Amino acid sequence: MEGSAIARYTVFIIAQCSGLIALFLIIAVLSNCGSIDWSSTINVHAFCMFFGMVYLQGLAISAFRVLTFVDRLIVKMLHMAVNSGAMITSVVALIAVFERSRTFSLHGVIGLITFILFALQWFIGFFSFLYPKLDDEKRAAVMPYHRVGGAVIFSLAVVTAVLGISSFNSFSKVLCLLRDVSDQLIAAGVLTLLYGILSVILVQTKGFKRR
Ligand code: HEM
Repeated sequence: MEGSAIARYTVFIIAQCSGLIALFLIIAVLSNCGSIDWSSTINVHAFCMFFGMVYLQGLAISAFRVLTFVDRLIVKMLHMAVNSGAMITSVVALIAVFERSRTFSLHGVIGLITFILFALQWFIGFFSFLYPKLDDEKRAAVMPYHRVGGAVIFSLAVVTAVLGISSFNSFSKVLCLLRDVSDQLIAAGVLTLLYGILSVILVQTKGFKRR
């Protein structure tokens, strides 16, 4: 295996470990502070947003860098399918949070902007690259914007999730019946940032690009 492939897979594996541990920590906290079902809409919101907007979106943007041995069309389909999963879970997460309240925090405002940009990116990506699909020249012109847009939207989702984790901490005294979950939330926040930073490094490093 050449040097750049070893570096690429190392970054990917550390990113995945961070993202998965953060996901398990969040599931553990939410299960200790009520349950992840419709009787606790804030928990449904936190789980679905983290799983969709952060974890799945990170996987979807990494796909082109790690599945270099797989046919490009199949990777494209996977990229779209995983992003569609992220879209569905985010819609469920938004419905859950708005069932509960219609007030806005900093987390909520940045989150809504992120969701709108993500939805726009999804629709533009679908129509440009999948169906009905632009001609070769126009697709090549749209691609650099799609790439930068994707990295920016994913970074915004990571920032939003960290703000959400912090918001959850302030609710936790009530939700967790005085159980102290702040250490797990701090660890989840730091690992989420690490997942975000490593995934962006993976997609933005020129040497990691598929030839
Ligand atoms: C990354 C994607 C996320 C997006 C786009 C997002 C978006 C939103 C929106 C639009 C609201 C409603 C407005 C508001 O009450 O401020 C909200 C509320 C809330 N979210 Fe999220 N959220 C995300 C992730 C998370 C995560 C990972 C957690 C916790 C682990 C979380 C915890 C909360 C809490 C506790 C509220 C209640 C209101 C508050 O912030 O004070 N969110 N979110």
